Amino acid sequence: MSYQISIQKTQNPKSKPDQNKLGFGQIFTDHMFIMDYTEGKGWHDPRIVPYGPLSMDPSTMVFHYGQAVFEGLKAYKTPEGKILLFRPRKNMERINISNDRLCIPHIDVDLAVEACKTLVSVDKDWIPEAEGTSLYIRPFIISTDPFLGVKPSSTYKFIIILSPVGAYYKEGINPVKIYVETNYVRAVKGGIGYSKTPGNYAASLIAQVEAKEKGYTQVLWLDGVEKKYIEEVGTMNVFFKINDEVITPSLEGSILAGITRQSTIELLRASGIKVTERRITIQEIYDAHAAGTLKEAFGTGTAAVISPIGELSWNDNVIKINDGKIGETSMMVYDTITGIQSGKKEDTFGWVVE
Ligand code: COI
Repeated sequence: MSYQISIQKTQNPKSKPDQNKLGFGQIFTDHMFIMDYTEGKGWHDPRIVPYGPLSMDPSTMVFHYGQAVFEGLKAYKTPEGKILLFRPRKNMERINISNDRLCIPHIDVDLAVEACKTLVSVDKDWIPEAEGTSLYIRPFIISTDPFLGVKPSSTYKFIIILSPVGAYYKEGINPVKIYVETNYVRAVKGGIGYSKTPGNYAASLIAQVEAKEKGYTQVLWLDGVEKKYIEEVGTMNVFFKINDEVITPSLEGSILAGITRQSTIELLRASGIKVTERRITIQEIYDAHAAGTLKEAFGTGTAAVISPIGELSWNDNVIKINDGKIGETSMMVYDTITGIQSGKKEDTFGWVVE
C-alpha cells in the first residue's frame, strides 16, 4: 500500500558536516516528517517539510506532563550506494507498545515505516559513509493539547527527524567504566520502564551525573525493589558471558525490549552460543568474577550498538572485566551487526530493508 505523503523541499539546504568529526545527535538534516492526530479524525496530513522549530503554546501538554514516546533507528549507505534500514518495523511496533502505556493512539506501522523510508530518501545525501557512522532516525510523538488538566491529550504530533552520527560514547567500542547504582532506581514493574518515553530518561539523569563525577561513564541499574537484580546499563540492555554461556536479564516489565538486544540474542544463538534470559543478581556477577568465570560484559543499544564494560564498581568494590579489554564475543556481535547494518556482511537473518 502506498501512502500520500506530501513533500515540501527546503529552499535553503544546509552545508553537510565533516563525516570524520561527527558526534551523536548534534546535527540535523534539511527535512522532517510530521503527521497530526485529532480525536475523531485520527492521524492525518502526513508530510515532509523543511527541518525547523515548532511553534507551540506554552500550555502544550507535553511540556508539563511528559505524555510522549520516541524511537531510535539507523540508516546506512552500502559501498554500492544502496540505502538500508535495520529492522524498522520493530521500532514502529514498539512505539505502539509505548503508546499503549502512555495513552497515545496507535500509529499505522506500515505508514510509519513508509514515512521513514521517504524522509531518508529525501535526505539521502546526508547519510555519512565513513566507518562507524550512520544516519540516526528519531521518530517521536508528543501530546499537543493546550491544557493544564491531567488527562490524555486529544491531539498529537508524530514527527521524524534525522541526524548524521558517529560514535555515541567518546570511548567508541572501547570498554567503559560503570558504576553500580545502589541509591536511585530507573523503573519498577507496573511503571513505565518497558516504554520508550522521556520520563525514564529524565529519571536516569541524576545517577549518570553523579557517576560521571566519580569518574564513571554510566551506571548499572538494579531492580527497584530489592536492588539486587541487574536491569539495564545506562540507556542500554546488558549481557554477561559466564563461562561459555551468555546471560541477559529477562523482560519482566521494567526493562526496555531493545531491538539490538533481540538481534544479539538471535545472532549468538545462530552462532551456537547458549543464551539465557533470566533474572541475574549483581552478587552472581561478583562471584563469577572471583571464580574467574566472568569472561565479558557488554551493553547493547541502537545508538552505540555494542558497548563493552571494562570495569564495575559496586559499593566501592571495583572489578575489571576481561582485563578492561574488548572480549571476543562483544567484538563478534559488534562486527556482525554493524556489518549487516552497513551492507558489508551478508544478512542471513533478513534484518535489513532497502
Ligand atoms: C540507545 O539507542 O541505545 C538509546 O536508547 C540511547 C538513545 C536514547 C540516545
